[in-house]
Amino acid sequence: MRQVMVAGNWKMNGSSDSVKELISGIKDGMASVTKAAVVVCPPAVYIACVSGAADGSAIKVGGQNICDEDGGAFTGEISADMLKDTGCEYAIVGHSERRALYGETDALVAKRFAAARRNGIIPIFCIGETLEERESGVTNDVCARQIDAVIDLEGVAALADSVIAYEPVWAIGTGKVATPEQAQEVHAFIRGKIAALDAGVAEGLQILYGGSMNPGNAKELIGQPDIDGGLIGGASLKAEDFLAICQAAE
Ligand code: PGA
Repeated sequence: MRQVMVAGNWKMNGSSDSVKELISGIKDGMASVTKAAVVVCPPAVYIACVSGAADGSAIKVGGQNICDEDGGAFTGEISADMLKDTGCEYAIVGHSERRALYGETDALVAKRFAAARRNGIIPIFCIGETLEERESGVTNDVCARQIDAVIDLEGVAALADSVIAYEPVWAIGTGKVATPEQAQEVHAFIRGKIAALDAGVAEGLQILYGGSMNPGNAKELIGQPDIDGGLIGGASLKAEDFLAICQAAE
């Protein structure tokens, strides 16, 4: 049985005060979360503060990105060691906002994935199609291409130490959630594709859904056979909503 994971992607939101309030609200509600693994990914400048506040709870912390290099002259980047040093066990890689707005290619995302793994950080590897791609019927091809970039660089076994987040771009921050059937279909495709190379890796792999998941739709999505949790943006910014999604796994 794969454990359900609920990860909050706080994106570029919050202040010193609001992140403290948010993490303490989540921590206070953790007694009601017995099944899901819970991860929060704050903006980098607040990671240390959030890790400190989460200490002593089951909440894990992740970065929103990770540099493909291990250190040196890479202005603006954050290394795996820095993430670990400030309490992270996870890092999101390849989020569609990074791909679309900051030019991260499949190849660069694969290198960031590799940097995470070689340094003991678990990548939460995001993939997913745009609306145009869905409408032209290439959803599976796009997901396969994004996954193949990682498999080509790192081999399929590398996916065993990672989490995949399927996030249809058209569902992110739009309120337009994929139906459970639509999401399940792609999740099953992803797992099947990986199973064709390594059945054991595919069976153990947590595949999260992301895109307008909220307390109202989480249970049905997470109830699908190949959906192992969620990567949550907007609804992760309110402790009550985030906890309600975590409880959908109970
Ligand atoms: P959303 O974002 O839940 O606000 O749609 C999800 C994500 O971008 O990870």
